[in-house]
Amino acid sequence: MNILVTGGAGYIGTHTMVKLLENNHTVVCVDDLSNSKYIAVERVEKITGKKVKFYQNDIRDREALRKVFSENKIDAVINFAGFKAVGESCAKPIEYYDNNIYGMLVLLEVMREFGVKNIVFSSSATVYGNPHKVPITEDFPLSTSNPYGSTKLFIEYILKDLYASDKSFNIAILRYFNPIGAHPSGLIGEDPNGIPNNLCPYITKVCVGKLPHVNVFGNDYPTHDGTGVRDYIHVEDLAEGHVLAVNKLADNPGLIIVNLGTGTGYSVLDMIKAFSKALGKEVPYKIGAHRPGDIPTCYADPTYAENLLGFKAKKSLEDMCKDALNWQLKNPDGYVE
Ligand code: NAD
Ligand code: UFG
Repeated sequence: MNILVTGGAGYIGTHTMVKLLENNHTVVCVDDLSNSKYIAVERVEKITGKKVKFYQNDIRDREALRKVFSENKIDAVINFAGFKAVGESCAKPIEYYDNNIYGMLVLLEVMREFGVKNIVFSSSATVYGNPHKVPITEDFPLSTSNPYGSTKLFIEYILKDLYASDKSFNIAILRYFNPIGAHPSGLIGEDPNGIPNNLCPYITKVCVGKLPHVNVFGNDYPTHDGTGVRDYIHVEDLAEGHVLAVNKLADNPGLIIVNLGTGTGYSVLDMIKAFSKALGKEVPYKIGAHRPGDIPTCYADPTYAENLLGFKAKKSLEDMCKDALNWQLKNPDGYVE
């Protein structure tokens, strides 16, 4: 198939483009490079030995998007384009609603205009809010506690309403848990701006000496060691999930909503220990206060993904740490153009 990957130059997009190309799909990428660099796309080409047709455009630019659809026969779209920082979304809610929701609306309108009816959307476990129990199944109640989470939840509603109005759409809403790690080559990986907000990129910066220690956000949660528990999934497994989802859309499944996680929860201290093992020395840390809005525990029930898509995360925690560290060691300043 010929797949349009919007936001393809970013962290999950690059890994997904590699898997799509390795599975003999062709890829057109639209990215405005607001949170990425073009060199990441070149690295995808280097890994796969295949070309990516690239357009530097904002998905809110309707005319630019129409040009992409008129120049390429697109079979399906995977939309990664959006802003994703929870803290920043509280400071800039209008920018988040505009980019994430308006961007999605423009994309859907142009898809409809060109008769393209298959789309995969990047949702997030954030739509489960603070779950009443774990593991989390797809039918759990949904809620939102910050503008970023609201954009994900509102887009899910938009997609459900769209499907209700036009059953010729095939829509996969994928709810990711916590993607980490990098391609084993060390050529592509996560490249956050400034000081990372998320745990794993923060730990790898400590590992390479760019930050002094990890701040552990609380050790009095009701978890096995008191620190927050999450479902970390290797970004390569997550990428594989997108290939399975996009292939599934070709069978006309209608609207599907699927968790992409491993089903296993690790605490912050488990992660620090695992990275210490990968590094071969202790990663320094200090226990601090809770981060406002954090929940104690979040991990997926991955059964439906396995039954519906044949998806099962294969990579271990050791793989995740080794590959994340390899990327950081080879690219201490991220992508440098
Ligand atoms: P990322 O920031 O690395 O990638 C997003 C890409 O979209 C970037 O390359 C950026 O330049 C581009 N972009 C942003 N707005 C755009 C626009 N209007 N037009 C064109 N391009 C635009 O983020 P990521 O980690 O790869 O996440 C991809 C998607 O997955 C996002 O929608 C994010 O909300 C979602 N998600 C991420 C996580 C995570 O932990 N990384 C978890 C759950 C869901
Ligand atoms: N943590 C620390 N220190 C840090 C950073 C994080 O102790 O410096 C802890 C957090 O308290 C939490 C765990 O590490 O217990 C994971 O935190 P992350 O920020 O890495 O991930 P979150 O689960 O909080 O959030 C991420 C994304 C959200 C997304 C959510 C679910 O940032 O956008 O996963 O997919 F919604």
